[in-house]
Amino acid sequence: MSDARSPRRYRARCLSFGAQSTAAAPIVELLDDVLITVVDGRIASVDDASALPATSDVVDLRPGLLLPGFIDSHIHFPQQDMIGSYGAQLMDWLERYAFPAEMAYADPAFSADAAERFLDRMLANGTTTAMVFATVHETSAEALFQAAARRRLRMIAGKVLMDRNAPDGLRDTDDGYAASAALIERWHGRDRLAYAVTPRFAITSTDAQLGAAKRLLEDYPGTYLHSHLSENPGEIQQTLALYPDAPNYLAVYDQFGLVNDRSHYAHGIHLSEPELELMHARQGTIAFCPTSNLFLGSGLLDIEALMRRGIPMSVATDVGGGTSFSQLRTLADGYKVAQLRGYSWHPFSAFYALTLGNAQALGLADRIGRIAPGYEADWVLLDGRSQPVLGERLARAETLEEELFAYQMLGDERAVSKTLILGTPLYERGDRVERVERTETHNA
Ligand code: GUN
Ligand code: ZN
Repeated sequence: MSDARSPRRYRARCLSFGAQSTAAAPIVELLDDVLITVVDGRIASVDDASALPATSDVVDLRPGLLLPGFIDSHIHFPQQDMIGSYGAQLMDWLERYAFPAEMAYADPAFSADAAERFLDRMLANGTTTAMVFATVHETSAEALFQAAARRRLRMIAGKVLMDRNAPDGLRDTDDGYAASAALIERWHGRDRLAYAVTPRFAITSTDAQLGAAKRLLEDYPGTYLHSHLSENPGEIQQTLALYPDAPNYLAVYDQFGLVNDRSHYAHGIHLSEPELELMHARQGTIAFCPTSNLFLGSGLLDIEALMRRGIPMSVATDVGGGTSFSQLRTLADGYKVAQLRGYSWHPFSAFYALTLGNAQALGLADRIGRIAPGYEADWVLLDGRSQPVLGERLARAETLEEELFAYQMLGDERAVSKTLILGTPLYERGDRVERVERTETHNA
């Protein structure tokens, strides 16, 4: 096994987005033939390679398309085994499928095995960073952090806070502060890991627990807030019944100081005008989860309105409400949701969202989300030839826009040829490369 610290050189056709990109105006950087040198996991240089002869010390990734690794801003690791469960909308679906599946994570051995499977699955889909819900059990988040640390992934996760309206065995027995704080002290800022304070949603946390979430954010600056918001009409009704004095759903979180530019709320489909104004003022992010929103019948997020108003938006799978780990399939459903809202989600904007856009939303745009000097070398190599319909469509694509739109609408995990972490392949299609760094990590 070669030393991860020694320089690696890759030749590739790359797509990335300029640092000044926005969702409404992504700046496309197509580098047709470049030599990328990676030193100690970071990109040291990106040089034109068009005149370069083939050499044996350069790994040639052509003719695939190399992109920054996909980022998934909202996913539930303990829901991987109940993905695609039939016949329910949000509140019933939680009771019938999600809560029972999450019970199993009280067992550390189960959690440890599940964390490995989950990360394997993400890498096979080209996802290199995610913001992840664990379960209420400290052991579930611990298992995920340990598995991510061994692979040296950039990962954000948190133990769920839940102390009411949930079954026995899935509720915190106190306000959850101490268990969250212990995880933060063990993992936040260690290597490439970060902690998200994770109240599931207002329905499942008492006032005391939402207050504890606020104290955690204050006591541990740099941690994130990760939760759900305004996904389903029944959920909204139940929330407002629990908080009769709150003018709206978002105001419930806001009264506990949980809405700011470190806050990430999945869904936000049914927000009222005052909620949209508040979200804009606070610069909290809404995670668009189209496969989930369609599968659970939750509704059609108006992404064009969010972009127009300057409300930060990210893109996420929301497995297991979401029906695929593939962010390519997420983009396909995102396109269809937008079409039903009368808007066509352009492939440049969509691929920007998966990479630099999600990095910007997570405050990580100086480290991940681009292929440029100084960035961490977390990449996905797409090669659509391994998917028959996609391959044939790509062969007829005449422009970059057409090529990307083919990946957006037709691609899935079969289009992922390799996934590299810090310049080392951790996944290759048809084969899992057994080169996972098993060393302990160090504080950054
Ligand atoms: N709202 C509260 N919990 C959940 C969950 O697990 N999945 C989804 N989609 N929405 C939620
Ligand atoms: Zn969710």
